[in-house]
Amino acid sequence: MDIQQRVQQLTDLINYHNHLYYVESRQEISDYEFDQLMEELLKLEQENPEFASPTSPTKRVGGDITRKFETVKHRYPMLSLSNSYSKEEIIDWANRATRLVNEPFEYVCELKYDGVAIGIQYIGGKIFRAVTRGDGSRGEDITTNIKTIRSVPLELKGDYPEDFEIRGEIIMPIASFEKVNEQRRVNFEEEYANPRNLTSGTLKSLDSKVAAERRLDSYLYGLYGDNLPFKSHYEAVMKAKTWGFKTPSEEQKYIFKTSSVDEIMDFIEYWDVQRDFLPFQIDGIVVKINDYSIQKKLGFTAKSPRWAIAYKFKAETVETVLESVSYQVGRTGAITPVANLKPVSLGGTTVKRASLHNADQIEKFDLHIGDYVYVEKGGEIIPKIVGVNTDKRMPDFPKIVFISECPECNTPLVRREGEAQHYCPSDRSCPPQVKGRMEHFIARKAMNIDGLGSETIDLLFSKGLIKDVSDLYRLRFDQLVDLDRMGEKSANNLLKSIEASKQVPFERVLFAIGIRFVGETVAKQLARAFKNIENIALAKYDDLIAVEEIGEKIALSVQQFFSEEEHIHLIERLMNIGLQFRQEEIALASNALESKSFVVSGVFSEFSRDEIKHLIEANGGKNVGSISSKTDYVLAGENMGPAKLEKATKLGIPIISEADFKRMIGQE
Ligand code: IVH
Repeated sequence: MDIQQRVQQLTDLINYHNHLYYVESRQEISDYEFDQLMEELLKLEQENPEFASPTSPTKRVGGDITRKFETVKHRYPMLSLSNSYSKEEIIDWANRATRLVNEPFEYVCELKYDGVAIGIQYIGGKIFRAVTRGDGSRGEDITTNIKTIRSVPLELKGDYPEDFEIRGEIIMPIASFEKVNEQRRVNFEEEYANPRNLTSGTLKSLDSKVAAERRLDSYLYGLYGDNLPFKSHYEAVMKAKTWGFKTPSEEQKYIFKTSSVDEIMDFIEYWDVQRDFLPFQIDGIVVKINDYSIQKKLGFTAKSPRWAIAYKFKAETVETVLESVSYQVGRTGAITPVANLKPVSLGGTTVKRASLHNADQIEKFDLHIGDYVYVEKGGEIIPKIVGVNTDKRMPDFPKIVFISECPECNTPLVRREGEAQHYCPSDRSCPPQVKGRMEHFIARKAMNIDGLGSETIDLLFSKGLIKDVSDLYRLRFDQLVDLDRMGEKSANNLLKSIEASKQVPFERVLFAIGIRFVGETVAKQLARAFKNIENIALAKYDDLIAVEEIGEKIALSVQQFFSEEEHIHLIERLMNIGLQFRQEEIALASNALESKSFVVSGVFSEFSRDEIKHLIEANGGKNVGSISSKTDYVLAGENMGPAKLEKATKLGIPIISEADFKRMIGQE
């Protein structure tokens, strides 16, 4: 078999197992075997870029970075649905349609997925372009991100039409949502309110690696094209399934065909209860008329089709007693008031607590202890208080006064101007903050210290053995070995892992020390731009914001961090211990690109974008973010944006290929 055939064979195999796993939730080979196939394909593609297809399954891992999403006009306007909130409205809608149509017809009931709408065009069975709804007539081209979603096929099978668009919803399973938020808590980043917001944020990320990591999912249900060979919506959905799409499943009752309005009601009632057990969020039910010819007869209003209607679930509200308020201290020192409620059943679970968010919420409802409050489980996962039954308030119910001191360390709280949250400013000695920072410090993407769970941190902290992260490097075998669940082997491994972390590169150390708003990517940018910690500590505001991805909020936070003496002392201690506080010098391979500036754009076959940037610097050149008259070269890969191309051409800047670049640095 020649290389091209093997590439095709691997592609087909991977696509097959991928579909089995992500669409049909089945598995025929082990994860290990799957990874082996993927590795082989990656290697072959790297060695033989001429065989690497833009729809190769290796594209799922992300890595394409877009500077700005292009706006694209929808071939078919992307409308929304008219909403209804009661069964009577559904009956009225069905009656109206019956009157207008004058012949028997069927309905199709579906879940109303609570995600982000997408339209994906396929040409010749290959994914061509994925566009968001936008304003309904124009949306954003987010193909690079959509390609990372494992349940979206990159290539189709069967008897698909030559050119068509499939529409549906991109969603984030609740489990993935919770994982991301947990990570954000550890990284001192603001959490997302609900899976829909996170889906939307993820799809807007310019770095497709983010989308690849966050594990989005899809349900696709609407087909658009000229002369599609189906007569009805249901038939189209079933057909799309055979081409490899993840469509609503009949077995799971995600889609249901009926001629009876009573059965529509049963479907609504069924899902109003069962939705609590779905692995993703839905916010209602959609009822559509099945037959395309009848859809055509009914047509559209200005904003929505007359042949479909959405039924929105009411958020279930219950009344219960507010027994007390407690205050949680987060890892960033943020104080969150939590309502302790008389237990009450809501949406299939017993609710005992509800979030109150901040002092303003308490003020807004003028809450008193003993109040009867209305609790609701909305799009958010945690129930919230939405109102008070003031009729039941007794004169002796005490008004809730927001605490003024930290419940963990008694430090007076502060509330920064323009912020809703109160904070405990004592980040050096407030236990949840210190422990939170410690957990962030040792995380895999930070110092990668293995074998230190949050319980062990608690123990070490309560024994006074670790007061800040630098104390980790002073831990001794005899202090560890007798701890709960530790033992000799684990103690030794932990000490080894701590020692090994001294080699972790500067950019990750910078991320690990936990400067507010400095996540992984920002840390990388800072390390690259300033080379060492002293330069960052002394950087002026203007120097900071000149760096890609760094805006006012981050710049101020960096300056604030280094203005505190305690932070400087901690860094000095970590430096003395031997942690890396300077960017490793890139050994200059040549001076071939001396004083030349490059803009790198698009996707490359042989090198990753990071590798290319590294090579530019290693050969004495400079990477710049955007094209200007000072740019010497634009290094263009596949899929370079048209706007860039135009700008480079206008300014007369030479556009070079990967092969040209290799010649310039003498690699060919
Ligand atoms: S059909 C002409 N079916 O809800 C519009 N939409 O409010 C056809 N949605 O734009 C839309 N689940 O983003 C349809 N099963 C479903 C849906 C669904 C979720 C979203 C979609 C739509 C919005 C309308």
